[in-house]
Amino acid sequence: MIKNKDQIARMRESCAVAATVLADLKQLVRPGITTQDLDEAGRDMMAKHGAHSADFGYQIGSRRYPAHTCISVNEEIVHGVPSFRRILRDGDIVSLDVTVEYKGFIGDNAVTIPVGAIDPELEKLVRVTKESLEIGIRQALVGNRIGDISHAVQKHVESHGYSVVRDLVGHGVGASMHEPPEIPNYGRRKDGPKIKPGMTLAIEPMVNLGTYRTKTLSDGWTVVTADNSPSAHFEHTVLTTENGPEILTVPLPLSS
Ligand code: MF3
Ligand code: CO
Ligand code: CO
Repeated sequence: MIKNKDQIARMRESCAVAATVLADLKQLVRPGITTQDLDEAGRDMMAKHGAHSADFGYQIGSRRYPAHTCISVNEEIVHGVPSFRRILRDGDIVSLDVTVEYKGFIGDNAVTIPVGAIDPELEKLVRVTKESLEIGIRQALVGNRIGDISHAVQKHVESHGYSVVRDLVGHGVGASMHEPPEIPNYGRRKDGPKIKPGMTLAIEPMVNLGTYRTKTLSDGWTVVTADNSPSAHFEHTVLTTENGPEILTVPLPLSS
């Protein structure tokens, strides 16, 4: 779970690429664009940086993920599979999750953004989810435990009457996309693995307006809310240090 200096240097690079691609992809979101268009643009942006998608071909059980990004609209929580049939519409919210591999290391990050003008209720869901990530990151302190992150996220989300997804969790990230420790978005203070310097953690609250329960669509990937209520998702890859958490998924300077 602990990265050495060289591994951390490589994680900085892969995370910067992941953040740059995500920032550039966000700029393309508008009513009328398909999630397939966004996926192809993301694929090309990764290639331009000498990186590639860590999602493409990613195996869970006997399935391989067929796209380069995860794009999840409205009641879709995560792992939305881009499609030329899915056209973004004014008033939607869309989660873009970009996971790149660059020189053997992975960077993982996601945002949820509005498509055109959205309902104030959705604006608040998105804001509270983003805040819950920030509040969780602040607990990624050496000496704390993973449960301190989990608890802080859950508390913030539930104080606004929303629910945290339990079927999916954040994770360590490095040369592989999913490494220990698991980082649930619910839990107790002082519980779970101890946080030490040199951990690279993908913290990713998934927050539902209604029930925390989920179901998976027949495509085998797309996870949606069981009650079809809207859901938001934010993610950063964070390095733990003696001086506190450092967000690694920050775009490269000089990139548009
Ligand atoms: N980006 C996701 C995460 O945050 C994982 C992608 S799953 C895949 O962990 F199937 F798309 F690869
Ligand atoms: Co992700
Ligand atoms: Co992740």
